Amino acid sequence: MIAKYSNQINKHYLFSVAPMMDCTDRHFRVLMRQISKKALLYTEMVVAQALQHSNRLDRLLGFDEIEHPIALQLGGDDPKLLAEAARIGEDWGYDEINLNIGCPSPRVVSGNFGASLMGNPEQVAQCIEAMTDATNIPITVKHRLGIDNLDSDELLINFIDLVHQAGAKRFAVHARKAWLNGLNPKENRNIPPLEYERVEKLKEIRPNLIIELNGGIRNLEDCLKALIKLDGAMVGRAAYEHPLRWSKVDELVYNQAPKVIKASSIINQLIPYAEKHQIKNGRLWDIGRHLLNLVQEVPGARGWRRDLSLKAQSSSADPKVLEEAAQQLKKAGL
Ligand SMILES: Cc1cc2nc3c(=O)[nH]c(=O)nc-3n(C[C@H](O)[C@H](O)[C@H](O)COP(=O)(O)O)c2cc1C
Repeated sequence: MIAKYSNQINKHYLFSVAPMMDCTDRHFRVLMRQISKKALLYTEMVVAQALQHSNRLDRLLGFDEIEHPIALQLGGDDPKLLAEAARIGEDWGYDEINLNIGCPSPRVVSGNFGASLMGNPEQVAQCIEAMTDATNIPITVKHRLGIDNLDSDELLINFIDLVHQAGAKRFAVHARKAWLNGLNPKENRNIPPLEYERVEKLKEIRPNLIIELNGGIRNLEDCLKALIKLDGAMVGRAAYEHPLRWSKVDELVYNQAPKVIKASSIINQLIPYAEKHQIKNGRLWDIGRHLLNLVQEVPGARGWRRDLSLKAQSSSADPKVLEEAAQQLKKAGL
């Protein structure tokens, strides 16, 4: 089945790891980069306003060279602030700036950005135009199919057309609407049904636009299926919860030479990175917490995770903890 789909693919950033607050920080991205050299990796959303405080820039924007290609996701609704934030992102070396028009969190919506901006395409267009004018890297958007009762294909196409004319280079579409009144963010990621056919229709109507599918992609086969009709597949939860599930992305999506990627070798590769982090007074747990999902559904997985959690959370933990964790896995052939 997988071979059947993989022959039909041939474009751009075919696979990306979605922006996720508290998940896709720099350490998780470095982990994902051990699994795919090609995937586009997104940051967590950074509120444009936060970048006005220059003493916080390293914490908000710092990343490791190995993370390229990497997109900085911004949140905001003020064209001037977003343009300035995009310019700062470009200076820091990001490959692309993405504007979040899909987040239904009440905190974000009360600031009148995130998903609520879908109801105001003219303002999104102004933001995109200002960001495009301020930078030389692609400006892209991530959005929903609609919000509340503003949910028709007509409105969606109007949104996309305006935002495209303003300069947006790619549309990552979370293939469900969001209910801003009534559902919390978690419910909004699960309860409104996925409507892939509406995203496919969008691509049929606007074949020249680059349209990436997001929402509910659980494995490589789902991803390859999405790529038959659409330009990219963006994976969120299934990448965080099962990072090794994507170990054949480069081979099957990007036609790279096959490679065996094991949990033990990933952890070993992260040791020099963990040493650098420690020198900067970083805690081992910042990295270790993301490694727990590398080992699942095999005998001893639970004990291994418990052991790593305990040791990596200790305030005196150093990268030797990772060395031991990798050794245990290697012994088990993992
Ligand atoms: C914990 C968590 C945090 C998220 N944070 C963001 C965010 O910062 N920006 C954003 O555009 N989407 C965010 N999302 C939404 C995801 O990017 C994605 O659109 C959504 O999870 C659907 O994709 P999936 O089914 O592959 O997970 C978040 C999702 C989760 C689970």
